[in-house]
Amino acid sequence: MHLQGHVYLVGFMGSGKSQIGRALAAEMGWSFLDVDAIVVEKEGRSIQEIFATSGETRFREAEREALLTASRAPRAVVATGGGLFLGRDPRALIKRTGISVWLDPTWEEIRQRLGHGEGRPLWNEDRPVAMRASYERRRAAYALADLRIGPSRDAPRQIAKQVRSRLSRLGVRP
Ligand code: S3P
Repeated sequence: MHLQGHVYLVGFMGSGKSQIGRALAAEMGWSFLDVDAIVVEKEGRSIQEIFATSGETRFREAEREALLTASRAPRAVVATGGGLFLGRDPRALIKRTGISVWLDPTWEEIRQRLGHGEGRPLWNEDRPVAMRASYERRRAAYALADLRIGPSRDAPRQIAKQVRSRLSRLGVRP
């Protein structure tokens, strides 16, 4: 954990990393970076296209490169893709260059947010049992984050304020 570095948001697809991340960046007066968006920009094609034509392995490589780019940027709130924190190397890079915050809403909330799952090749609403199993498996890795923000009925801006005050207690301030 590096208290003077970035704040990285981790968690399953649909856990609100981008929305809460933007609100948190505004709270802190820092910029907001989205690792998925960096991949899309560098590759010049959508995540769906990368998965469909080059496969998941290629996507994971591009994602790690994008993380490296983000890690070198001036202090920011960084939203990561749901698979990134599962890898040992990316997780180590995140730990070295900032503080990791796990957004952990309920399964029900995640499912509702993802809906048909447009743009998310690994989400399949017709396979709820498999999706739930993947979520349960991944939680063990997300639990390695420095902070956990549990389920909340609050709006993203409110949750961002909670994250800010938890960070402040650790000595991470704007
Ligand atoms: C993935 C999550 C996605 C995106 C890609 C793979 C995953 O990001 O990186 O579709 O493995 O969970 P979000 O968590 O922003 O949906």
